[in-house]
Amino acid sequence: MEIDVFSTINSATDDGLAGKVVLVVDTLRATTTIATALEAGCLEIIPVLTPEEAIEMRERLEDDRVLLGGERGGVKIPGFDLGNSPLEYTAEVVGGKRIIMTTTNGTRAIKRAAPARVIFLAAVVNAPAVAAAAAEVEGDVSILCAGTRDRFSLEDFLTAGLLIDELRQRGNYSLRDGARAALELYGLYKGDVAGIIRGSLHGRQLLELGFEADLDYSSRIGLLSTVPSYNGGLIKTYR
Ligand code: MLT
Repeated sequence: MEIDVFSTINSATDDGLAGKVVLVVDTLRATTTIATALEAGCLEIIPVLTPEEAIEMRERLEDDRVLLGGERGGVKIPGFDLGNSPLEYTAEVVGGKRIIMTTTNGTRAIKRAAPARVIFLAAVVNAPAVAAAAAEVEGDVSILCAGTRDRFSLEDFLTAGLLIDELRQRGNYSLRDGARAALELYGLYKGDVAGIIRGSLHGRQLLELGFEADLDYSSRIGLLSTVPSYNGGLIKTYR
């Protein structure tokens, strides 16, 4: 079995995704928030590309359990119930709810992974649980980093390295060059994951917006045991 890493959405090739076990990563903050919401008892999350699509879907579904969540420019979208801070997604707020979500990069990356055999959503907070599920499913793994507006994101690449480290403790994987680079980076900085996340470009932007607590939360390795999976347009708890 082999592991590859795509550091941005647009760098992912069709043959690198089709039939693979794809782990989508958007540590700041979409996949962190999604894992948090599901762990808090949210029923399902429907990722969509635009705020307009989200509003239209809510009208069509006519379900009072539906909440709209997501961000543009890091902040809550006007008219939405929730932003993209994982700390908003508590059991009181999202328990028993369905969430339609749109974020700048994360939901795009999730939808790009559609040709995969299996899709799991990973972040630092649930990396060990996702790696365990992926190793059990067996097969080549592609890690798809959301990046930021089609540019490399340090925090996603570091999370890819963490996932590879966890996968290699559970299975016999060879590494393509992108995976090797991510693992080397993680090896260098695994003692200071929080510092790297805080110092990343996106981390600094979130700090300026006042989301310091999100950065601390998003840096906690293995805090959550939920493995979100994306299948047939819906994100649900795989386990
Ligand atoms: C994204 O999808 O681009 C991010 O989750 C943005 C954010 O930090 O809210």
